[in-house]
Amino acid sequence: MSLIKSGPEQELMRAAGLLAAEVLDDIAAFIQPGVTTLQVDEFAGETMKRRGCQSAFLGYRKYPRHTCLSVNEEVVHGLAGERILRFGDIVSIDCGVRYAGYVGDTATTVAVGGCSAAAQRLMDVTQQALHQGIAQAVAGNRVTDISRAVQDFVERNGFSVVREFVGHGVGRSVHEEPQVPNFVDVGSSAKLRAGMTIAIEPMVNMGRPDVKILKDGWTVVTQDGSLSAHFEHTVLITTGAPEILTCVRTPSGSKGA
Ligand code: MF3
Ligand code: CO
Ligand code: CO
Repeated sequence: MSLIKSGPEQELMRAAGLLAAEVLDDIAAFIQPGVTTLQVDEFAGETMKRRGCQSAFLGYRKYPRHTCLSVNEEVVHGLAGERILRFGDIVSIDCGVRYAGYVGDTATTVAVGGCSAAAQRLMDVTQQALHQGIAQAVAGNRVTDISRAVQDFVERNGFSVVREFVGHGVGRSVHEEPQVPNFVDVGSSAKLRAGMTIAIEPMVNMGRPDVKILKDGWTVVTQDGSLSAHFEHTVLITTGAPEILTCVRTPSGSKGA
C-alpha cells in the first residue's frame, strides 16, 4: 500500500486528526486529583462516541482500553485501572481515534493539579523536542533528520530518549511504515515525501533510557523508576511547512499552539 495519501485521503486524515486533538483536550480537562485512570478512560470512550469517532487503540493487538494513560514512571501503554490520580502526578494521555477509516494519533503529558518544577521541565523539554522533530518533517529530508533533532534536543537538556518504542506512519492503520525513532540508528532511513502522514512521538525519561513492561503485559515503565513524559502529533509532510493534523484550529482558520 502506498505511503502517500491522495488529496481526498489527506482530507480524511485532517478530520481524524482534528477529532483526536479535540478528544485529547477533553480528556486533559477531565483529569483532576481523586479520579481513577479507569474513570478517565471511560470518559474518553464516551467523548469519542459523542464526537462521532472511535478509539483506534481498543482491540488493536487486543489492547483493552480506549486510551493509554501513563502515570509518573509509566512511559507509554499505561493500562487504566483503579489507580487514583494524586496532586503532583504527571499523566501521559495517548489518544488515537478512527474516523471514516482513518486514524489520528496524538499524546500529551499533563500535571494533575500541579507538579514539581523538575517534572514541569521534563514535560516542557519533551514537547519542545517534538516540535524540533516536526520542523524537520519536510519533503526531501530523511526520517533520520527528525530522529536526530529530537535526540539532540533531549540529550542537550540532560534527559534520555526511549529506544524500544518509536513513532510511525499512520493512516488506515495505527502503525504503518516508516518507523520514526527518537534516536539516530545505524544505516540509512526512508526519505520523506509530500503526502506521507507520520506520528512523531518522543518518549523522554528523566533518568536512564531503559524501560520494562509490567506483568499486565502492556504498561511500560522506566527501569530506574524515574519520571517519563510523552508528546505526539500526527503530521502531514508537504513540500513546504509541515502540517500538524492533530491540533485544534482557532475559528479564524489559523492553527493553535
Ligand atoms: N501509543 C501508541 C502510539 O502512539 C499506540 C498504542 S497501541 C495500543 O503509537 F494498542 F497500545 F493502544
Ligand atoms: Co499515540
Ligand atoms: Co503513535
